[in-house]
Amino acid sequence: MDFEHIFDESYERVLKVKCNNKGFFQAFYDRYIASDPRVAGHFKGTDMERQQQLLEKSFYRLIVFYATNYADDYLEQVAIKHSKLALNITPDLYDSWLDNLMITVAEFDPLYDENTELAWRLVLSTGITYMKFKHSHC
Ligand code: HEM
Repeated sequence: MDFEHIFDESYERVLKVKCNNKGFFQAFYDRYIASDPRVAGHFKGTDMERQQQLLEKSFYRLIVFYATNYADDYLEQVAIKHSKLALNITPDLYDSWLDNLMITVAEFDPLYDENTELAWRLVLSTGITYMKFKHSHC
């Protein structure tokens, strides 16, 4: 099973559509922020349109990281920014981040199935493990 290919195709599909007039990243952040007051607190005052663009950009780095196991300087800076030295995003918040992302994928991808879910979880897991680890190792 080529999970990277399954992920790529699904990612292309979710970026193409709108649900309730929202793009994929906007719908994800709306859902994630509504899911937990701690998340809402972290994003209080954030320009969410810019934030969506930054997450989309960093997604490509996460995908490359999965494929190559190479964490570039950009990803390192993002991880340091999320660590206890700066934003202090605790590791448990990455689990709910991914769960909320998967609900959003299910909503946006008309071909969503179990393999799609597994493909997303696998492709993002290397980057998430890296970010969680860096929380207390910067
Ligand atoms: C793998 C998962 C994640 C990725 C790839 C990611 C990516 C990013 C990126 C690229 C930025 C912008 C950095 C910059 O300003 O240059 C950012 C900012 C931020 N992220 Fe994340 N993030 C992740 C997980 C999380 C989680 C779980 C939270 C929990 C609440 C979170 C909260 C924030 C906050 C509060 C900011 C700063 C917003 C501001 O500038 O006001 N992130 N993230």
